[in-house]
Amino acid sequence: MDPEITIIEAAWPEEADRLLAVRHRVFVKEQRVPEEIEVDEHDETAFHLLAVNGQNEPLGTARWMSDGDGVRVGRVAVLKAWRRHGIGSLLMKEVIRSASEAGHRRLHLHAQTSSIPFYEALGFQLTNSPEFEEAGIPHREMEFLL
Ligand SMILES: CC(C)(COP(=O)(O)OP(=O)(O)OC[C@H]1O[C@@H](n2cnc3c(N)ncnc32)[C@H](O)[C@@H]1OP(=O)(O)O)[C@@H](O)C(=O)NCCC(=O)NCCS
Repeated sequence: MDPEITIIEAAWPEEADRLLAVRHRVFVKEQRVPEEIEVDEHDETAFHLLAVNGQNEPLGTARWMSDGDGVRVGRVAVLKAWRRHGIGSLLMKEVIRSASEAGHRRLHLHAQTSSIPFYEALGFQLTNSPEFEEAGIPHREMEFLL
């Protein structure tokens, strides 16, 4: 792990450009998620996290917001060239810590099926909900109980 990588709280809209630079490359360019649904109404109010390197360049993102079911986590992304270096895990640990600090007891998310091992390694578990498609990508619901 690069010792200079840090996770920062990224306020919207001040940090929107850096958050969207990562999300656009990962979700729109790499995964072909339609650009018009990548940014949504939740961005204004969500709690955003940004992973940056020693040069303060953005490498990864995550966001969470409370909903009727605890905390909904999403937009978890790390630039392709930086994957498998622990950055996604650092982001998710900060998601869990910040949601817990805000008093929440349950986190849930829609995991792309290819990302299930990543979330399981962090302590998330699959719920009983069946697989479904979102933006043409198969997903399962997962949860983390604090
Ligand atoms: C999912 C994602 C955020 C993981 O980020 P990352 O920085 O590569 O994750 P980490 O390096 O912290 O991985 C931690 C552990 O998760 C597991 N893991 C991560 N990616 C995995 C993969 N593609 N397949 C299987 N296990 C994986 C491994 O156990 C890994 O530990 P290891 O590298 O020591 O084996 C990243 O792959 C990504 O941005 N993917 C594209 C966007 C996406 O699919 N986001 C999830 C939407 S639900």
